[in-house]
Amino acid sequence: MKNSKKLKDTLSGKNREEMPNIAFQIMTALMKLMDVLGNYSSKNFKTLDLKPGQTVIDYGCGPARYIRNASNTVGELGKVIAVDIHPLAIKKVKEKITKFKLINVEAVLAEGYNTPIADETADVVYALDMFHMIKQPKEFLIELSRLLKKEGKIIIEDGHQTRSETIQKIENSGVLNIINETKYNVECMKN
Ligand SMILES: C[S@@+](CC[C@H](N)C(=O)[O-])C[C@H]1O[C@@H](n2cnc3c(N)ncnc32)[C@H](O)[C@@H]1O
Repeated sequence: MKNSKKLKDTLSGKNREEMPNIAFQIMTALMKLMDVLGNYSSKNFKTLDLKPGQTVIDYGCGPARYIRNASNTVGELGKVIAVDIHPLAIKKVKEKITKFKLINVEAVLAEGYNTPIADETADVVYALDMFHMIKQPKEFLIELSRLLKKEGKIIIEDGHQTRSETIQKIENSGVLNIINETKYNVECMKN
């Protein structure tokens, strides 16, 4: 019982931000299964409401299950930047770029809460199923906000935490204004 809770917490990222490789691989397999059985990521992708021509950042992209849809949606005038702290995620993004010829996608490895991306790059930054892993939400949200254009939007999914925990972390940070909430995610703009 104790061990299965520990494994569950590790897989959901409760114990640390950079998962052990084995946890990342098991997570990747489980996500693939969810997509095969229920087309999960395609359905969830629609809730982001991305538009052609946008530059978007998939922050904490994991096994890159959203990048193909994002790439097709923003099109040749847009750009997708897939960011993760885990080298296996970056490897996965690069494999998908090659496999599906995603010429408008770039992979970026984050270090802590720093990403080598210019200020005000993105129309939309989305952080899906990962905010619960973040140990210093304020520092994390400052970085997301830095990457966002003035009128841009940040979309945060609760992941493995309650909506009130998500909201409390965002409000306590003082960095973002919540502009909309849906059952899928919380949308924010810069202060
Ligand atoms: C549960 S996965 C979700 C992946 C993807 N967003 C999805 O929904 O399919 C969480 C991902 O967030 C990444 N992550 C955690 N902390 C991070 C940080 N500080 N910066 C960038 N990525 C982070 C992890 O490495 C992992 O790949």
